[in-house]
Amino acid sequence: MTLPEDPLWWRDAVVYQMYVRSFADANTDGIGDLAGITGRLGYVAALGVDAIWLTPFYPSPQRDHGYDVADYFGVEPAYGTLDDFDRLVAECHRHGLRVLGDIVPNHCSDEHQWFRDALSAGPGSAERARFYFRDGRGENGELPPNNWLAAFGGPAWTRVCDGQWYLHTFTTWQPDFNWDNADVVEMFDTVLRFWFDRGIDGFRVDAVTHLGKAPGLPDAPPLPPGTRETDAAGRNPYSLYWPSGHDVWRHWRQVTDRYERDHPGRHLATVAEAYTANRPDVLLQYVRPDEFHQVFSFDLMLAPWHPSTLRRAIDQTYTALGSVGASMTWALNNHDSQRSVTRYGRADATDPDSWTGNNLVYHDVAVDVVVGTARARAASVLLAGLPGSIYLYQGEELGLQEVLDLPAEARTDPIYLRTEGRELGRDGCRVPLPWTTDPVTGYGFSAGPSRPWLPQPEGWGRQAVAVEAADDDAMLALYRTVLAARAALPAGDETLTWQLPELTQLVAFSRAGVLVVLNATGVEVQLDRLGGPEREVVLSSRRGHSDPGVVPPDTCVWIRPVG
Ligand code: NOJ
Ligand code: CA
Repeated sequence: MTLPEDPLWWRDAVVYQMYVRSFADANTDGIGDLAGITGRLGYVAALGVDAIWLTPFYPSPQRDHGYDVADYFGVEPAYGTLDDFDRLVAECHRHGLRVLGDIVPNHCSDEHQWFRDALSAGPGSAERARFYFRDGRGENGELPPNNWLAAFGGPAWTRVCDGQWYLHTFTTWQPDFNWDNADVVEMFDTVLRFWFDRGIDGFRVDAVTHLGKAPGLPDAPPLPPGTRETDAAGRNPYSLYWPSGHDVWRHWRQVTDRYERDHPGRHLATVAEAYTANRPDVLLQYVRPDEFHQVFSFDLMLAPWHPSTLRRAIDQTYTALGSVGASMTWALNNHDSQRSVTRYGRADATDPDSWTGNNLVYHDVAVDVVVGTARARAASVLLAGLPGSIYLYQGEELGLQEVLDLPAEARTDPIYLRTEGRELGRDGCRVPLPWTTDPVTGYGFSAGPSRPWLPQPEGWGRQAVAVEAADDDAMLALYRTVLAARAALPAGDETLTWQLPELTQLVAFSRAGVLVVLNATGVEVQLDRLGGPEREVVLSSRRGHSDPGVVPPDTCVWIRPVG
């Protein structure tokens, strides 16, 4: 099989996100690796996806599991070698799968050579100018240069031996690059081309909203009382959505477009990670025609299970991105979010005013897994009906839950460590995948006996790939059916038309010849009023449901005229 010759492949692609550390472990050290992925591509291709996205696999001290890059031109030894990477790309392409990498431009690791050079070169040096080094405030410079807080807890500044401070939006181990510095711009141009030359088909781009800072780095305004510490960075107007960031993205688009022109047949895509918290006006800026190809709409992922919030998330994204000619990019899960089965099963899931921030941390409410699973099933049918592109996160297709009760000593997420346990962080959605029922091999995660890097809960094997593959009622069967139904829709139709507005308990729209209806309430809804030709249920998230006249609670259906 070869790659489809489609320059706009990404506009309606289904992309499968692999958290490299947790997908499959070929050498049995308990850590996922590139060879593990290569060995399991048949499973991924059979799901019916068009591309994979690999989370960062570069050499890294793994303080933030690869989002702290020590060398942008290599492969983390625990994950393999450049040869393993080349083999993986070749095998993906042979399976008809494109490959997106993950690039981290806002910051690197404090073990990156440039940062080490900056430390030894001292204040005022060209080496320090690649980062944000500043003198402190206070009589002896003992106070940070400003009041900014880090996204993962604590101040956004760390002091070094000679008394200066450096800025880090995330953790002390992730110094921010200064993008006004020409060396930084030039290095990343080289990084992009290096991986394009190795066959990569594009990048997910990390933390784009944080790149670019207000000149002079002024103090941020006071935070509203009660703001969670990990929400503070997301409210700092001087380090968020700063306009100079867009100069970088315009430049990157030129680099990408030029590469395509110079390499006929290559079709590249970039997708921006931008949390814009119900600000579609901000979101759309990242996909103006000369910036990224795609930007995730996280408003849907972060919307509580309520018809009004779900409708608003879809509608505002559709309108905003449509206004700049961009296609939509949806996801229900990723490696930073509580898994949807758990999220939608939370006691506060139906409160339209809950979950105002990025929902990384909730652990204080009861979870009903049966309800959560029904809703996650419904959400997947909704997702597949939306125009644009969809991103799935490994294990979502198995209906895995967030592992909420990981022992404290097993947790590795810097959010947990930096907040001293006040926030649980994201380990719970990163537990290694179950492939079989054999606990000795980490439920088939490893190719032989092993101890996976995060402990898997007992019974993890009940949702193993091997188990679900033999069960027509499993989440896996639903995902396969849903993706096949989506692939059968007429291509290129990106129009969504809202339907049944008087039934406010529904999220209902027509698209590409089907009527997609989500009932996000606990009460059955009658659809008698549809009238017109005879209709049939093409797809339902509820097993055994085939009556087009009703939508059961927490269910999503696709309906179309018979014939
Ligand atoms: C967003 C990534 O998805 C997350 O995992 C990471 O911790 C931060 N950016 C910092 O790079
Ligand atoms: Ca391994």
